[in-house]
Amino acid sequence: MAFADGTADFRSDTVTRPTPEMRRAMAEAAVGDDVYGEDPTVNALEEESAAAVGKPAAVFVPTGSMGNQLAIGTLTRPGDEALCVEAAHVRNYEVAAAAAVSGVQFRTLPGPGGQMTAEEVKTAIDQSHYHMPRISLLVWENTHNVSGGTVVPYDMMSASSGVARAGGLAVHIDGARIFNAVAATGTPAADFAGLADTIQFCFSKGLGAPVGSVLCGSEEAMAEARYVRKRLGGGMRQVGVVAAPARIALRDRDRIAEDHRVARLLAEGLSDRYPAAVDLARVETNMVIVDGSALPFDVAELVDRFHRRGIIIGTLGPDMIRLVTHRDVNADDVARLLAVLDELERH
Ligand SMILES: Cc1ncc(COP(=O)(O)O)c(C=O)c1O
Repeated sequence: MAFADGTADFRSDTVTRPTPEMRRAMAEAAVGDDVYGEDPTVNALEEESAAAVGKPAAVFVPTGSMGNQLAIGTLTRPGDEALCVEAAHVRNYEVAAAAAVSGVQFRTLPGPGGQMTAEEVKTAIDQSHYHMPRISLLVWENTHNVSGGTVVPYDMMSASSGVARAGGLAVHIDGARIFNAVAATGTPAADFAGLADTIQFCFSKGLGAPVGSVLCGSEEAMAEARYVRKRLGGGMRQVGVVAAPARIALRDRDRIAEDHRVARLLAEGLSDRYPAAVDLARVETNMVIVDGSALPFDVAELVDRFHRRGIIIGTLGPDMIRLVTHRDVNADDVARLLAVLDELERH
């Protein structure tokens, strides 16, 4: 359902607002100093998070970016390279933190849909010589955000991660939306995570909590990650107040399947009207990418006209619209969005 003022915000799954249950949990959370490891709500959340992805330990962090950077800081040395797809969040949208914080640069593979084949990974490793940076880490992003929330299939991840491991690389999953991949495929989170040394996932995206992410991995890796977290200024104190809604989000993670159903309704409604604008095969989770050049509207103007009708949509470029479903939009909001399009078409 839209926000209380009727606004339906389709820009991102990060826009959700805490539910009444989450707000109550925040008010009532048992807290302690988490830097001393004494916040019982954070400790419970870390245990539940580790269990949800089948890892022994977890570290709560304020953001997905910090989760990724702790993994890089833990699994590499300065001067190393990390392998990822060209359009990886960790490479493009974390303000060069890997370089600035850990002294690590990226080697990229084209990676349509976030995919990297075993052959590509092997070639990258084989081409690395003593006078080149040491490739020490493979980073997956699943689901892959800018491809439109596409799932990187388990079998591909398994084959390529196997090649990476054989080549001496560690493996990290940027699983900001791993539970969307789980809902879309039925592959358990622990199976994806089992391919990697570390996985981070976000409570503040499809899971619908206001704040927070978590990095999961071995006890040793998480002990090191805690150290890096403190260095980055991420050691928080009575942070149980934000871990409490994250616990609810994690508990209710199966709800994500509903976002996928709503995204499909939206994609089909758009495709019925403008078949060339939406590639239905790419709508695998909670995102719909719309090719604005296939619409009879100017995209910037469309954004504006929607906005005036209480519907917020986002763009990924001058001609590309990205619509994202989440807990705070539903099938009625999709019907509203489509009705606005029909109205604009008539005028
Ligand atoms: C795939 C992916 N990884 C990491 C992040 C970073 O999360 P945060 O904004 O919490 O730093 C995002 C944010 O949108 C994301 O989409």
